[in-house]
Amino acid sequence: DMMREVLGLKELERKIKKKLPVEDVIVVAGDSDQSPWVKREMGRACVSRIKHSLKGNDIVAVTGGTTLAAVAEMMTPDLKYRDVLFVPARGGLGEDVTNQANTICARMAEKAMGHYRLLHVPDQLSAETYQSIIEEPAIREVLELIKSSTIVIHGIGDAKTMAERRKTPPEEMKKIEQNEAVAEAFGYYFNQHGDVVHKVNTVGIQLEDVRHVPCVIAVAGGASKAKAIQAYIKQANQCILITDEGAAKQLVRDD
Ligand code: BG6
Repeated sequence: DMMREVLGLKELERKIKKKLPVEDVIVVAGDSDQSPWVKREMGRACVSRIKHSLKGNDIVAVTGGTTLAAVAEMMTPDLKYRDVLFVPARGGLGEDVTNQANTICARMAEKAMGHYRLLHVPDQLSAETYQSIIEEPAIREVLELIKSSTIVIHGIGDAKTMAERRKTPPEEMKKIEQNEAVAEAFGYYFNQHGDVVHKVNTVGIQLEDVRHVPCVIAVAGGASKAKAIQAYIKQANQCILITDEGAAKQLVRDD
């Protein structure tokens, strides 16, 4: 911790806490926009924070994304995970397999030596088929587990970057742009004030549910994500932010 004080990371954390309504914040050295290994450092910090928050038989819901993939990579086995269940936070959001919540959930649970359940609901379905699939007992069971999550770990993305990565249809793209979305998290798009301007319809945790989860950890870094992080945090209620120096410096500067 002495080292983190000397590097000025502690000071950045104090400034962020003053400026944004976070429950806690951890800033790691570097900028993940510039150096890919910084994501792994955020991953390492996140893993130790998760362990700190475990009560025993927790249900840990995770989103997709490259940052959460780094969290999964840094996960280490621990007896504490013996009765922990990992689940994906929400159903398909139009991501490639490597970025999907299911993939990351399974990887994280394997590395932790915990358990996992996956959500097998395809992305593109007619309303009718969708309705009958989510009424299947096996799917409903997983959905109920997801709704009772005690810990949620999620990424935050820049709205435009995420909409493009997900190959969002032109109509929705227009809506996202016209409403000046700057941030994205779990398929919700937010403007700079933190208002939801668009959401991807899918099952699993909804934004209202997130507000009632006892421990929510957001992991996002890189100077390019500062605006997105700020917008998201404005509407979040008591979240723990794990970020990097690149984003943190912008966060304390931006106004
Ligand atoms: C998505 C999550 O999969 O990844 C979002 O559902 C998040 O919550 C996004 O905004 C972030 O992706 P990355 O690759 O920037 O970590």
